[in-house]
Formats: sequence, C-alpha cells, structure tokens
Amino acid sequence: MNEHESHQHPHTLDIISRPRRNRRTDSIRKMVRETILSADDLILPLFVKEGKGKREAVPSMPGIFRNSLKDTVAEAMAAFKLGIPAVALFPALANSKKDQYASESMNPKGLLQETVAAIKTKVPGITVITDVAMDPYSSDGHDGLVENGRIDNDKTVKILGEMALSQARAGADIVAPSDMMDGRVGYIRERLDYEGFTDVGILAYSAKYASAFYGPFRDALQSAPKASKNIPGDKKTYQMDPANVREALKEVYLDVEEGADMIMVKPALPYLDIITTIKSNIELPVAAYNVSGEYAMIKAAAQKGWLDENAAMMESLLSIKRAGADMILTYFAKDAAKLLG
Ligand code: PBG
Repeated sequence: MNEHESHQHPHTLDIISRPRRNRRTDSIRKMVRETILSADDLILPLFVKEGKGKREAVPSMPGIFRNSLKDTVAEAMAAFKLGIPAVALFPALANSKKDQYASESMNPKGLLQETVAAIKTKVPGITVITDVAMDPYSSDGHDGLVENGRIDNDKTVKILGEMALSQARAGADIVAPSDMMDGRVGYIRERLDYEGFTDVGILAYSAKYASAFYGPFRDALQSAPKASKNIPGDKKTYQMDPANVREALKEVYLDVEEGADMIMVKPALPYLDIITTIKSNIELPVAAYNVSGEYAMIKAAAQKGWLDENAAMMESLLSIKRAGADMILTYFAKDAAKLLG
C-alpha cells in the first residue's frame, strides 16, 4: 500500500482521472466547451413568391412561409438585426412562368432579380446568396435541361452560366450552384469574370446527395422532379448516392480547382461524416445545409410534444458545427439567433 492509497476514503474509488470534474458547474462547462455556435454561423433560406398578397404557409414546414417581395425584404432585415450575416433566396414561381429552358431565370425583371436588388438596397450589409439551378424555373422540375430523353449536362451548364450572370447583375454577392452538373463551377466563374463580376463569389453545392430530406422544400416551390421518357422522377443521375464518401471528395476537389470560394455539403445531419472528411481535406470554408426535411422532423415531433424543440434545434446546429461546418444554412436561423442572443 503506497502513501496515496493510505489516505483514501474507504468509499472512494482508486482513480485519478475524473472527467466529471470538468462538467461540474455551468461556468466550468463554459470554459472547457470546444465548439461555440454563434449567429455569425447562420444563413437563413427564404422563399419568395410573386405578387403583393399575404404570406402563404408551407404546410410541411411549420413556421416557414412563401413571402411577397416586400415581406422577404422585411425578413432579411429582421435576420440581419438578429446578427445573421446572410440569406439564401429561392423563388416560388407560378407554373405559367416555367418552361423547358428555365427562361424566366434570366429575366432581368424576374422575381428573384427584383428581390435581390430590393434587399441590397434596403439591407445593404447583408450577404445575398442566390441558388443557381433550373428546378424552380423548369416545367420538368429538374435541375438540368430535359431534352431528347436525357438530362443534357453541357447545355444545362450554359444556361446556368447565364442564370448566374443575371443574378450577379441584380446584385447577388454569392451565387450557389445547386444543380450537380459537371463543369458548372468553372463555366460560371469564367462567365462572371468575363463580364466583370470578379467580386461575386461561388458557393458550390459540391456534395449534394439525392436525398429524401428535400421533400418539404419541393412542396414549398412546387418543384418536384417529373418523370418523362427515359427520365426518372428523381435526381439520382446528377445528385450523389448517399452511400458514397470518396466520390464527395472527388466532387469537392473538382469544384476547388474550378474556382469555388466555399463548398457545401447537403443535407447536413445524415452527412456529418462527409462534412468532417471534407473539412480535413481542403482549406476553403465549408457550409452545410440543414435541409427542409431535417427542419420538418424536429417541428413535427415538437408539435406532438415528443421532444423539446429548442433543445433539439440547438443540439442539431451545434453538431453540424462540431462536425466542421463554418456556415449552416438553416430554416431555424432566426429562432437559433434569438436564443444565442
Ligand atoms: C434545388 C435545391 C433543392 C434544395 C436546395 N436547392 C432541392 C432539390 O435539389 O431537389 C433543397 C433544400 C431543402 O430541402 O431545404 N436545386
């Protein structure tokens, strides 16, 4: 028996390390906390609808609305006041505005373009991110051009280049291609630079998976992909297989080479390993999209009284940050920012 043991209380275990000492009080837990979530990390996605009418609830996303342009500007203002640095805009268009070529996406007076311009005028300090993909504008509901029974990659990329340019002209700070076509980041960079928009950034949805968790978003925009001759009613020929991680790295490396400024993983919670892997392999900032289905799950369970909404929300967002995300797109952004104070 050594001296140390001889002083031991009879009921005390003979252990030196007691990790619980660092969890004993709230102030100690604060000091040793490894990950700090802040409103600075959050990006609020917003759905814009045409007309001046009242906001429309998205049934599968409680608390989320399709807003008119004016109300969208107010939402951006409210987010900015809460310390949220950026919004990501998604237009909800009438079916009559949709066509095979997503022509409306290049209309300088289009809903998205006018919304971007209005936000940049009224809330100049906020960063405006626009989505580059055909689906909200496409009568086929796909992110790519459906022609002759296939999704034509290269023709789609040309359309995306013009779409991104139109968004840049409207005042977008960052364009975010979410289409998963090959070669689009490089082409968009080239088009933007050629037209003088060298300051407009590219947030590439590099690792975007063919996920069931986008369901509520497609309700919000009425943009579900349609099946047609030889084309399935899903996005599996361009969005990634949820089984793959090395392929995500391949996509990320290509987008880095093609000039992306930031890259994104989407969805977030079922893909935390992808976020961590990418974060440890590249130097660019990494964003993660806490998508509509992830939001809907927490909301639905909370509405049933099955879990504590705020606690589940904060734990989810913290986990995404801990996995390695520098930025989190989330429909919870305002609620979280309020709690973060
Ligand atoms: C479309 C796009 C989608 C989302 C963002 N951009 C849907 C899709 O790919 O079908 C989903 C976002 C969400 O579910 O919250 N290019």
